[in-house]
Amino acid sequence: MTAMKLVRRKFDTLVIGAGGGGLRSAMQLAQADANVAVVSKVFPTRSHTVAAQGGMNAALANVVPDNWHWHMYDTVKGSDYLGDQDAIEYMCRAASHLVVELEHAGVPFSRLDNGKIYQRPFGGQSQDFGGAQAARTCAAADRTGHAILHSLYQQNIRAKTHFFDEYFAIDLVKDSDGYILGAVVLEIETGEPLLIEAKTTLLATGGVGQLFRTNTNAHINTGDGIAMALRAGIPVQDMEFFQFHPTGIAGKGMLITEGVRGEGGYLVNKDGERFMERYAPHAKDLASRDVVSRAIAIEVREGRGCGPNADHVMLKLEHLGAEVIKKRLPGIRDMAMTFIGVDPIEEPIPVFPTAHYTMGGIPTNRYGQVVVPLGEGAEEPIPGLYAVGECACVSVHGANRLGGNSLLDIVVFGRAAGNHIIEHLAEHRYHRQLDEGSIDQALARLARWEQSGDGESVDELRQELQRVMEEDCGVFRTEETLVQGVARVEALAERLQNVRLKDQSKVFNTARIEAFELENLMALGLATVKSALARKESRGAHSRVDYPDRDDERWMKHSLYYEDGRVDYKPVRTKPLTVDTFPPKARVY
Ligand code: FUM
Repeated sequence: MTAMKLVRRKFDTLVIGAGGGGLRSAMQLAQADANVAVVSKVFPTRSHTVAAQGGMNAALANVVPDNWHWHMYDTVKGSDYLGDQDAIEYMCRAASHLVVELEHAGVPFSRLDNGKIYQRPFGGQSQDFGGAQAARTCAAADRTGHAILHSLYQQNIRAKTHFFDEYFAIDLVKDSDGYILGAVVLEIETGEPLLIEAKTTLLATGGVGQLFRTNTNAHINTGDGIAMALRAGIPVQDMEFFQFHPTGIAGKGMLITEGVRGEGGYLVNKDGERFMERYAPHAKDLASRDVVSRAIAIEVREGRGCGPNADHVMLKLEHLGAEVIKKRLPGIRDMAMTFIGVDPIEEPIPVFPTAHYTMGGIPTNRYGQVVVPLGEGAEEPIPGLYAVGECACVSVHGANRLGGNSLLDIVVFGRAAGNHIIEHLAEHRYHRQLDEGSIDQALARLARWEQSGDGESVDELRQELQRVMEEDCGVFRTEETLVQGVARVEALAERLQNVRLKDQSKVFNTARIEAFELENLMALGLATVKSALARKESRGAHSRVDYPDRDDERWMKHSLYYEDGRVDYKPVRTKPLTVDTFPPKARVY
């Protein structure tokens, strides 16, 4: 296939990814009469937002007193002071309005007896800057992401967003001045490439949880947008910070929502001890996720794990009673019964930390524009390119995201990007001339997987990568494991050259898609492990046994990883928009 022969379509905006971030932006744009295309490699309502369980944070104060400034404090502290405080203020201020907007878009939030939206306590939440536990997470039972995604999809259908369902984005295309002007995509069913030209392009492809063997993520979460940005010359930010959710089903990884602990569930070790009291005397089981995950890993390492292999702890919720479990936590009950034959009304759920969330990603400003460093803390936007949600790093989560802030992030910055794109479109009315060379580059990636023959298998290499990442770059890290991790991922990346698809006549296009995904995973595995090796401190989810303390003097800075393997840094934006900075303090829960 040559660029000349390629079928072309033109839109005002191309949105790549149909999770909550992409659909929130697309809705904004389509309602403003922009001509919007959404490309998704799965049917939109199968995007990973659908799996978000516990809820979305907003200081509505429906249950206990609350305000956005307390939410901001908790988020900055939760981020271990790596979050950018301007973006955090912006997000926390916008939250309440956006919950109401979602409700009006049709999201069936659970209710309190007085009819107000139900809010549950989640980890790392406090009243009055570190005081009593807050209850800030707005929930639709334990299927909040499902409710939000379906409502946003329906609103997009109503607003006439154009969906390209089951199309896979290969690479971005640009003009000779570096304007991003759309992407080459592949129709999965037919294997036919298509060029979608757009005045603006938004990446909303989610995180890269499939880097790890045990994870809560959908099979599709392979970091495609982040890898595309990297290939387009954009350094990716803070990739060493990967969140391990404390309560995955032991040995399997599926998410058991923090909402269980929010409703009053708690963790015990083999002696029946509520061990979180030792690690976080004040917040206990509702300390932030990095703290709880480490505590579980330590309990197991020190021989207090449960089960025949002493390799997990127990999450107890029987005491909540059948009525609460059926009403507030029906999804996790289904899951525990289906996957491990445990009914949590009767017995505890075996749990262990599981890879959950990519805090790093494509650097953006709070308008969703993708930015690159100019030096001395200055940045400039890449014209035409936006990113929101888990693939982006704005950075509101810093080194550790608070539960309930990811659904918030996607709608806040989905809307912000939508608004900025609308302004951009008003000022840039015509399509620019593409550099045909950039199309050829994307097509060359396609050609690689059109050949077949004998060689290594995609699936085996993906599994090896996941195992290496889990062993060498997991909850606890050391120089030794990370040096080994870099060497092992580099060796796997070499072996990628020998991977072949089998006889093409017997290969479905999905096999080709998995090969593209493996290339993306490999690039981001390198980014993660190299950024982790470079950071010689412990902060948030990046826990170095050999550098156990946070070192603000040397390391309160964001990392930037370039495709050639270089790691550089840029300052944290510590100045909020209107309030005083929260200066770094020792972080205790
Ligand atoms: O535990 C959970 O329900 C996950 C929520 C989140 O990651 O925000």
